[in-house]
Amino acid sequence: MSEHWWRDAVIYQVYPRSFADANGDGMGDLEGIRSRIPYLAELGVDAIWLSPFYASPQKDAGYDVSDYRRIDPRFGDLGDFDRMLADAHAAGIRLIVDLVPNHTSSEHEWFQAALAAAPGSPERERYHFRDVTDPEVPPNNWQSIFGGPAWTKTDDGKQWYLHLFDASQPDLNWDNPEVHAEFQSVLRFWLDRGVDGFRIDVAHGMVKAEGLPDTGGDGTIEMIGTTQAPFFDQDGVHDIYRTWRPIIEEYEGDRIFVAEAWTDSAERRSLYLRPDELHQAFNFDLVLAPFSAADFRKAIDSEIANNAGVGAPCTWVLSNHDVQRHVTRYGGGAQGLARAKAATQLLLSLPGVVYVYQGEELGLNEVLDLPAEVREDPTFFRTGGAQIGRDGCRVPLPWTREGSSFGFGANGSWLPQPAEWGALSAEAEDGTEGSTLEFYRAAIAIRKAHKATGLTWLADPGEDAFAFDNGALVAVVNFGADPVPVAQYGTEVLLASADLVDGQLPGGAAVWFEK
Ligand code: BGC
Repeated sequence: MSEHWWRDAVIYQVYPRSFADANGDGMGDLEGIRSRIPYLAELGVDAIWLSPFYASPQKDAGYDVSDYRRIDPRFGDLGDFDRMLADAHAAGIRLIVDLVPNHTSSEHEWFQAALAAAPGSPERERYHFRDVTDPEVPPNNWQSIFGGPAWTKTDDGKQWYLHLFDASQPDLNWDNPEVHAEFQSVLRFWLDRGVDGFRIDVAHGMVKAEGLPDTGGDGTIEMIGTTQAPFFDQDGVHDIYRTWRPIIEEYEGDRIFVAEAWTDSAERRSLYLRPDELHQAFNFDLVLAPFSAADFRKAIDSEIANNAGVGAPCTWVLSNHDVQRHVTRYGGGAQGLARAKAATQLLLSLPGVVYVYQGEELGLNEVLDLPAEVREDPTFFRTGGAQIGRDGCRVPLPWTREGSSFGFGANGSWLPQPAEWGALSAEAEDGTEGSTLEFYRAAIAIRKAHKATGLTWLADPGEDAFAFDNGALVAVVNFGADPVPVAQYGTEVLLASADLVDGQLPGGAAVWFEK
């Protein structure tokens, strides 16, 4: 047992609108999540990270919060939340909620009050308003992450307001003490209800460079990337976390913060993990890495070295609600699934924490052919369809082989599921030898019994393959196309993502040996 649960946990991301729909409105809800807690317990996860379920006009699937202390009626109410939390805790599963501090919804009472008030008023000081001098020229060249300018004019045409995301997501002004006080109060609200922590959305945002200077180039900055910008990863953001850490520590139960912080290096990311700041920060390097031994190894080495420097656990992730599912990223079809399982098995043997995105345990692929009329991601609309956006990884889960929306809910689902997903349903995979679900269950169980204590690279078995000893088992991963010999690493196979043939590990596969 490690000293803190969050240093080696497996944490499962639930995307509420697409997990399970108990009330039959086509969108998932908290009661649906509660009903599936036994499934998560059987999978063996230690905690759930729940994407936003707060009151929201849903312009960005709930990352546009209009009331941080209320549940969106589409998902239920506070009573449902308390019941879900109690059931999770009874099953030994912790619950981390999502906190969205960079921006509110434009329907938040603060923004509505700001629009109703005059330029220069205290209400407008909670956001970033600037006077219009030329109606064609915004205050700077910043572009929205979702496409188009990051500034929109108020209806009377007198001022601009800043929104790094959709125009319905105005950025808060973190130079204003009122904003600090409000979020400290929101933290306490959910901590008092018993949550085990927070995933901080756009944790590298919030603080903007003094004077809001232009970015280099044309102002376009990808969120999913490593470019520096005057609105991301500013040093001042660390001061915010230094005020939050003492708050969470007042509460018993070893509660945590996990940062979504896209930075230009693993070193910059590790700054968020200094002992008086946050506990975990997603490592997105493996999300960006091609399926290659050299790229994975580089990312792993750099995460381990940098996080050791601040005493923080490595935090591994391959998929989430913002990126293409890894089965598809690795080429799709049988090869994509084989590689995805190998990569997952690798992650589960690395020292640190592993995040699993709902549905990856079923081997779900990205749905690439959603028709335009069902899409909801603002990226799709703000780029005029040039970028299809993130709906394809948000398609509701299949729970049963047949029936309305494959058991997701009684009346269909907000995004259509592919016809072949019945065969990937939890029902179809449960107890089925060789299924992805049984593979995840086995891998998580073996991981628990073989806790990594470190990582020592062993001699490579082949050109695009590597092997390491994690202190508890020996792992070999073959990224290449050709089989590699593995007999030299062990004799007793604990788990293999694909069968060994004549002592050889096939291409796109991983194996764990007993030490
Ligand atoms: C979330 C996205 C969201 C964006 C704006 C991201 O980091 O994960 O889903 O669109 O923040 O809140």
